[in-house]
Amino acid sequence: MHHFNYKNGRLHCEDVALDTIADDVGTPVYVYSAATLRRHARVIADAFDGMSCLIAYSVKANGNLGVLKTLAAEGCGADVVSGGELMRARKAGIPASKIVFSGVGKTRAEMRLALEEGIHQFNIESSAELGVLSEVAKSVGKTARVAVRVNPDVAAGGHPNISTGKSGDKFGVPWNDARTTYAQIAETDGVEAVGVDVHIGSQIDDIAPMRAAFEKVMTLVKDLRNDGHDIRRVDLGGGLGIPYRSTDNPPPPSAYAQMIREVTEGMGLEVILEPGRVIAGNAGVLVTEALFVKPAPQRNFLMVDAGMNDLMRPALYQAHHDILPVRERGADDEKVRYDIVGPICESTDKFAAERDMPCIEGGDRLAVMSAGAYGAVLSSQYNARPLVPEVLVDGDRYAVIRRRPDFDEMIALESMPDWLS
Ligand code: LLP
Repeated sequence: MHHFNYKNGRLHCEDVALDTIADDVGTPVYVYSAATLRRHARVIADAFDGMSCLIAYSVKANGNLGVLKTLAAEGCGADVVSGGELMRARKAGIPASKIVFSGVGKTRAEMRLALEEGIHQFNIESSAELGVLSEVAKSVGKTARVAVRVNPDVAAGGHPNISTGKSGDKFGVPWNDARTTYAQIAETDGVEAVGVDVHIGSQIDDIAPMRAAFEKVMTLVKDLRNDGHDIRRVDLGGGLGIPYRSTDNPPPPSAYAQMIREVTEGMGLEVILEPGRVIAGNAGVLVTEALFVKPAPQRNFLMVDAGMNDLMRPALYQAHHDILPVRERGADDEKVRYDIVGPICESTDKFAAERDMPCIEGGDRLAVMSAGAYGAVLSSQYNARPLVPEVLVDGDRYAVIRRRPDFDEMIALESMPDWLS
């Protein structure tokens, strides 16, 4: 469910016409719906109602301060994977006690920062990392609460680039080494085992592999408790898929929550979740303007002013995004088949291949749907294109929450070596 609908023949975000924002801010531009963000956060919170549960929104999906603050007001915590994300979450008002620090390669500086902030939990992924964390914690006179991210050797399905729970993936401690790692924690100063962590992938459209992984984790929790460890939390990661097409049918949060209730029943565990895409994905669109149509043999290239530097997902994962004209067309309008491409000098700079669309002309605007997660966060300045701006809509008001830098700002961090100046 989202709040992007046609009203009076124009695509709106909530009560604001996308044309109004595009006229004001220019294109390309990301537009987010606060109502959709809130709704998704509430649907998930309601699904886990009555359980001891921390919803640690995965900042990597969309870390804009305005988005984080909107979610903080809904009670969300944060799952962070870098010092920068930790700083963003804190700046948006998310208390350190609701922050978990994931990631396969944390630096000492990041560990120190997180310890000084007093975060809820470190998810560690190797005994080498454990050793470093122990040293850093001792040096600042703190004890780090840790969960070991285990690799359950379960395939999550979906695109191989975002599957993380198979043995052979770089993520997590191999299943058979998990108990030894906890034994090591018990003997190490500066670290305390409080939980077990697992995350098997992203855009998962089937509950079964998640259930399989979580059931394995519960047997591990029992074994660890028998070994004498005081395991009181499980972090079950993120990964729930969203509909990118009207025909996609991912499990609803209610079914996901019901499965987790069943799996964790009677275990006396605090459950931590790290949802990213399911909260932010359908809460954002990328608005772009058609530049012109270039007919070519067997193809019509529809060139738009957004590029793969603004939205990487199609180039990286051959991901599908629906693309809607901002000006509403009739259902019976004749369709034209387009390859919708950006201006970047790469053949992968393609948002859609052989897509049937109503006739589009230069100057028409398009909305690339479901771009709220892993959109702006993955953007770059490749081809010296200023970073794409972001706008947050709330009802009938909107605000620019990241502005487009001008050319001088874009190059402001660079300096000329003295021998060249
Ligand atoms: N927790 C951990 C440890 C993760 O690695 C991730 C995502 C999440 C939580 C959040 O997963 P979500 O609920 O959003 O599925 N750029 C890719 C997705 C990469 C996901 C990376 N990890 C894409 O655009 O599809």
